[in-house]
Amino acid sequence: MIVLGIETSCDETSAAVLEDGKILSSAIYSQAEHSQFGGVVPEIASRAHMEKIDTITSTVFRQADISPRELGLIAVSDSPGLAGALLVGISYALGMHTAYGIPVSGINHLEGHISALFLNHPEIPLPFLALVVSGGHTAIYHVEAFGKYRCLGQTVDDAAGEAFDKAGKLLGFSYPAGRAIEQEAAKATDPDLVRFPVAKVSGPNPDFSFSGLKTALKYYLKDKDEGFIDTNRANICSAFQRAVIDSLRKNLLIAAQKSGVRTVGVVGGVACNGKLREELGKTFSKDLYFPLPSLCCDNGDMIAMAGYLRAQRGSLRFPRLNPAGTL
Ligand code: KG4
Ligand code: ZN
Repeated sequence: MIVLGIETSCDETSAAVLEDGKILSSAIYSQAEHSQFGGVVPEIASRAHMEKIDTITSTVFRQADISPRELGLIAVSDSPGLAGALLVGISYALGMHTAYGIPVSGINHLEGHISALFLNHPEIPLPFLALVVSGGHTAIYHVEAFGKYRCLGQTVDDAAGEAFDKAGKLLGFSYPAGRAIEQEAAKATDPDLVRFPVAKVSGPNPDFSFSGLKTALKYYLKDKDEGFIDTNRANICSAFQRAVIDSLRKNLLIAAQKSGVRTVGVVGGVACNGKLREELGKTFSKDLYFPLPSLCCDNGDMIAMAGYLRAQRGSLRFPRLNPAGTL
């Protein structure tokens, strides 16, 4: 089955063509328009999606050397995300559905992220714990099977990627800042210069809280002069990154202990982070799975894969805009 995946939930306009779960082509436009604002501006995102979606989709058809009539399914992110941004992808998918009569399915974006694991690790043992760690979400799910998820813990405030982005703003990086912080942290000469606390959320669940970490960084920087910050930017980035990783690692361990599940999959934009991969590798070693780094941030491939897996199980569903949807 040939599947077109469309992803426009936030600031990436992306499409991909898969055949029987194998990538034939993919294209992505990452909206640089937001960098000067320190975060995604919803109006700008919707407009940029509208400007790019046809070019991106045409590109993947051309690269895969197929025509839309050969598709067996169009899969499109319809929740959660920015309403106007999601609407562009949904409208485009429904337009193709109407024009060519091809079946269409809505996909939960978080299910999309989890599906990225099945692209390069179809053998991942079930059940597993999925840490979804992105700019908009940070949560641990018990994945009994594709389509069967139970949330074990989640952030009570900022997402981990959002924490990276907010810290980046304080440290002079443009949005999104996760990758830049990782690269800067790798240059640290004194990673123990400072230790930032990460709040432990009370209660039995492995929930996360990252807003206090951002505040701790803000107060730390408050009485430091520019020269000190310039000299120590790498050390500060390293300390910040370590605090985020420690929190993710500790809660994953709690979730593993509570659920008795040892296999862990880590997905979402922050899963690109090499230090996170290294540190979790020390704890979970051979039981740890990641998507390819290129498939961690938002992409159409993961949406197409989720569509393919849904089609195999007979669980396609008509797209329905749901900006606040959960898994
Ligand atoms: O999954 P994604 O593309 O979008 C959402 O669904 O939110 O994730 C984007 C997030 C941004 O916050 C970005 O700063 C973060 O992923 N990110 C990283 C890295 N690469 C991207 N965070 C830490 N280290 C990285 N290497
Ligand atoms: Zn995402």
